[in-house]
Amino acid sequence: MNVLFLAPGYPAEMPWFVRGLRTRGARVIGVGDGPENELPAIARENLAGYLRAPGIFADGSDLGPVVRGLGETTIDRVVCNWEPGVLLAGRLRDALKVHGMGYQALLPYRDKDIMKQKVAAAGLRCPKHVMATTVAQAREATRDLGYPVILKPLAGAGSMDTFRCDSAAEVEVALKRMGHVDAVNVEEFIDGEEFTFDTICHEGRPLFHNICWYRPRPLIARSVEWISPQTVALRDPDAPHLRGGRDLGFAVLKALDFRTGFTHMEWYMKSDGEVVFGEIAARPPGAHTVDLMNWASDIDLYMGFAEAELTGTFSIDLVRKYNAAIVFKRAQGKGIIRRVEGVERLRERLGDRLVAMELLPVGAHRRDWVQTLVSDGWVCVRDPDLQGLMDAADFVGTDLQMYAS
Ligand SMILES: Nc1ncnc2c1ncn2[C@@H]1O[C@H](COP(=O)(O)OP(=O)(O)O)[C@@H](O)[C@H]1O
Ligand SMILES: [Mg+2]
Repeated sequence: MNVLFLAPGYPAEMPWFVRGLRTRGARVIGVGDGPENELPAIARENLAGYLRAPGIFADGSDLGPVVRGLGETTIDRVVCNWEPGVLLAGRLRDALKVHGMGYQALLPYRDKDIMKQKVAAAGLRCPKHVMATTVAQAREATRDLGYPVILKPLAGAGSMDTFRCDSAAEVEVALKRMGHVDAVNVEEFIDGEEFTFDTICHEGRPLFHNICWYRPRPLIARSVEWISPQTVALRDPDAPHLRGGRDLGFAVLKALDFRTGFTHMEWYMKSDGEVVFGEIAARPPGAHTVDLMNWASDIDLYMGFAEAELTGTFSIDLVRKYNAAIVFKRAQGKGIIRRVEGVERLRERLGDRLVAMELLPVGAHRRDWVQTLVSDGWVCVRDPDLQGLMDAADFVGTDLQMYAS
């Protein structure tokens, strides 16, 4: 089977998906906008071909270079597991007449207004929302919804340009900062805990599902630099107290008629137990969450994804063993990382609960913690017991410190 794989080199997880598909018997042809020799080795070694198409990930880009580049080669599947390429995958399926979700079917995953309209039309609970294309409309919408209110772009990712506003004055500041955004979603603020619901599906049938818990909520994690944000893959996504979110998740997939591949949904649980839809993407969760789900059950979802995509089966023997957390670290200070403290203590105290660690080395320049959730590095810990896991993850948060100057 010939698989066209968009963005095989980035983000970090992509080469492993390429490898999974190849190992499962596919001929994988990569499409990217950079030179082939800059791809990570794992991607290069597992690709049967590569088409370089500069600018291909821009909205409305010319598909000609890819279509012509393929020549006589027929394509059986188009796969993209990276948000900026999801709609492109749909356009390419349409252009190449390849089975799977086309552009129209994928639009609700990229346009948050269409997304919420469809979810709400199925009778599922969404935040009240209004789309505004002018500043006046946005002001009016905030007055109607009351405070606090959320302002965000239509096709956001990673909490960029998402603002909580508690007053009219804060709305004005947010609108000024969003000056470059054409359309703004104005939303009722939902107070509560925030979770994910992630699946691998085949032809509308969920074959695998997972729930992660964000500590704290992404908007807070993105606003307060000293926090070491955690994503916790919960050992038992079928626990009774998560039932509302799980049912919501499966219902959303039905409402949007999701077909095949990874999905990543976010949802809220209010203190009164009500669950509310947040958003959904037609791709896996980012920031090493696929690795996190793998560590939680000692499985390989890169292979599981490939199997589902290529044959519609999922033969992983799933034994949910651990709660697993990835903790993202941000150095104190600006500039170059000068010192990392607490690594040895961490190893001693956590023992085999410490699964993996990838910190920027001393001498490296700090990453932009606002632009990338991975920040200056991450640590993964796991424990069968949730309290044990939270203690371990919090220990990484407080006792491992990086210093820059
Ligand atoms: N209606 C809302 N109520 C409360 N918090 C929200 C709301 N919308 C967004 N947020 C906060 O902002 C974060 C980013 O918003 P989200 O819709 O997930 O966009 P993104 O695509 O940037 O991830 C969420 O994870 C949540 O913490
Ligand atoms: Mg989000």
